[in-house]
Amino acid sequence: MAAHVTRIKGFADMFPPDSDAFTFMEATARRVFGRCGFVELRTPVLEFTDLFRRSIGEETDVVQKEMFTFPDRNDRLMTLRPEATAGVMRAYIEDARHTRESVSRLFTTGPMFRYERPQKGRMRQFHQINCECLGSHSPYADADMIVMLMRFLREIGLTDLSLKINSLGCATCRPVFKKALVDYLSGLAGQGQLCEDCTRRMQTNPLRVLDCKQESCRSLTDKAPHLLDYTCPDCRQHFETVLRLLDAEKVDYTVDHRLVRGLDYYCRTTFEVVSGNIGSQSAVAGGGRYDGLVKSLGGPDVPGVGFACGMERLALLLPQRTAPRPCFYMVGMDDAAREVCFGLTQRLREAGLHGEMHIGEGGFKSSMRQAGKSGARFCLIIGPDELAAGTVVVKNMDSGEQQAMPQSSVVEHLASFPGGGEHE
Ligand code: HAM
Repeated sequence: MAAHVTRIKGFADMFPPDSDAFTFMEATARRVFGRCGFVELRTPVLEFTDLFRRSIGEETDVVQKEMFTFPDRNDRLMTLRPEATAGVMRAYIEDARHTRESVSRLFTTGPMFRYERPQKGRMRQFHQINCECLGSHSPYADADMIVMLMRFLREIGLTDLSLKINSLGCATCRPVFKKALVDYLSGLAGQGQLCEDCTRRMQTNPLRVLDCKQESCRSLTDKAPHLLDYTCPDCRQHFETVLRLLDAEKVDYTVDHRLVRGLDYYCRTTFEVVSGNIGSQSAVAGGGRYDGLVKSLGGPDVPGVGFACGMERLALLLPQRTAPRPCFYMVGMDDAAREVCFGLTQRLREAGLHGEMHIGEGGFKSSMRQAGKSGARFCLIIGPDELAAGTVVVKNMDSGEQQAMPQSSVVEHLASFPGGGEHE
């Protein structure tokens, strides 16, 4: 046998029940976000590399190490999207959406690509459910997004999650904080105590030192200055309003001064939702405000706030979904009977009933075994006698009882059983 072509490392195929879990999450997201005025935007998975460099930031791990980037046939650099926000901003600008609506609420879902080391909850192709609210500076927008995110998580059945929140300040107050942080860290680096990555980050992206996972760096930054002590009055008031609105909605949170996020476009509010039950890749959702982003990409000066959920990580937390039980399994005992079975199967499905006809190999015994395996509530059998009489034998697979009835009344008969329809 020829060797088969394998899938790419970090990329997954998804059969049920995994694919069912994804469908369920997407359907719930459409319902919950739709109620809040979100409309669905679908953007391409491939974009010019420049889009991500300019939005996510040259110094981020995503741009430096994790992008799937390659030249196309005309030598233009292309990248498989590592996240959705940048593409949504590009689409928003190209569509001149701000000229038609003062606030845009855009929902996107699909595959993202990051060249990371695969492990539990971390894939090279993964899927996000992403929401962006563009056009409002108001802290009400931030709070509305967070409340909506938590509602979505609750509606898919997840309640044992923690929300972490922080403010990254703005162009006025963040530089003051950065300087205080670098001054503090320089003292430490002088003693050679920060890890190699953090020593580099100190020059390029000092805030990231705060979320280094290395225990040694963490204990060193325990006493580092807190951004919240440096925020300007406007940023402070914005943050306090967001927290007050969350309190009013009884959304629990922890203010976490280490929450700086891995993408450069954030300002003011940032947040993450984490789970204690899926190992080290614990963030199931993350987001924040990004007021300068649209402008920096050549668009109008429109503020925004958004988040993305990681679907693979959410799926790890969802209970296993059970497939809906089929209503019928149709068995024809010879070719002539099978032709009648074929038509009857179509009529049952048109009536909304869920089932299949035996099309596999083997004799009557093996088709009855398949009927049992299918989990169907009823097995419908047509042999030469039934064919001649225009009847069908209906066998209740739970009780074993069977009765013959006219083919013309089987649709009505099965539909009358509670739960006989498509979904139980
Ligand atoms: P992010 O924190 O980079 O934010 O990703 C959001 C979520 O995607 C993470 O919390 C995680 O659940 C999931 N995720 C990220 N990388 C992987 C991976 N390699 N494998 C599996 N899941 C992963 C963003 O992407 C921002 N664009 C969110 C946002 C939207 N901010 C504003 N608007």
